[in-house]
Amino acid sequence: MTVIESGPFAPLSRSAIRHAMSDSSYQQLGDLSIYESVASTNDQLWQRLEKGLNTPAVCLSEHQTAGRGRRGDQWQSPPAGNLYLSLFWPFPANTLQNGLSIAIGIGLINTLKAHGISDLQLKWPNDILVNRHKLAGILVESRFGNQHNTVIGVGLNFKLPTATRDKIQQPTTSLQQLCTEVPCRNELAGHLIQNMIETLTLFQARGLQDFVPLWSQYDALHNATIQLISDDVTQTVKAQGIDENGALRYEHQNQLHTLSNSHVSIRFAS
Ligand code: BTN
Repeated sequence: MTVIESGPFAPLSRSAIRHAMSDSSYQQLGDLSIYESVASTNDQLWQRLEKGLNTPAVCLSEHQTAGRGRRGDQWQSPPAGNLYLSLFWPFPANTLQNGLSIAIGIGLINTLKAHGISDLQLKWPNDILVNRHKLAGILVESRFGNQHNTVIGVGLNFKLPTATRDKIQQPTTSLQQLCTEVPCRNELAGHLIQNMIETLTLFQARGLQDFVPLWSQYDALHNATIQLISDDVTQTVKAQGIDENGALRYEHQNQLHTLSNSHVSIRFAS
């Protein structure tokens, strides 16, 4: 008999995660690994590729010693029952990846909504916010070769110890703060992996076209006055949604512009 590990903070369990997934999604994975501690779950999957293993795969860890965020930031990853999850996906070489993080972000919000978590929004390109406080982040990394190899890392805060929260330079939140009943981490991980596989399959076939019309329902920056910060330059502009490629549209001095460079930091101006 298989015992399924349940409860919000039960240890990560391969069988419990597998139990939450459909057979067809699970069978697409060449590997689903769980670690106590790694440098970064994204790096773990790149190392797997370097060994010649190029099938879809998932890696989770209870703790990361060098968790990475976007723009070279650290992702604080204490062993506190959070989700540090990465998925490797080998796209065919000709796949355009514009807007992939948007598709994944919409899928992550829908998965969380199905677990009763509401008022979630996406701050372009891929921060999951509740009332302007960050609950989760997504890091998409790509390497080109015979295939368009991609690792998508998701960090989702279940519980943030005060010492960790103090190290983070922006308003943050966690499921423990938001929910009266925190969802089961293994079950949520299984549903999230399944959603990511379905999203990647759809994105590979049809690009971003099914996601762009949905964006306004998720857009945390909708018509907001924001600051675009890059190196020493700060511009104050008005956000205007996204274009068909997932680039941010914004108005500056009565002219419409687009931004596809996710290395620019975005802040609410008010
Ligand atoms: C961000 O908002 O800056 C993206 C954060 C992504 C963090 C996750 S945690 C799992 C995976 N492994 C990493 O080293 N980073 C991503």
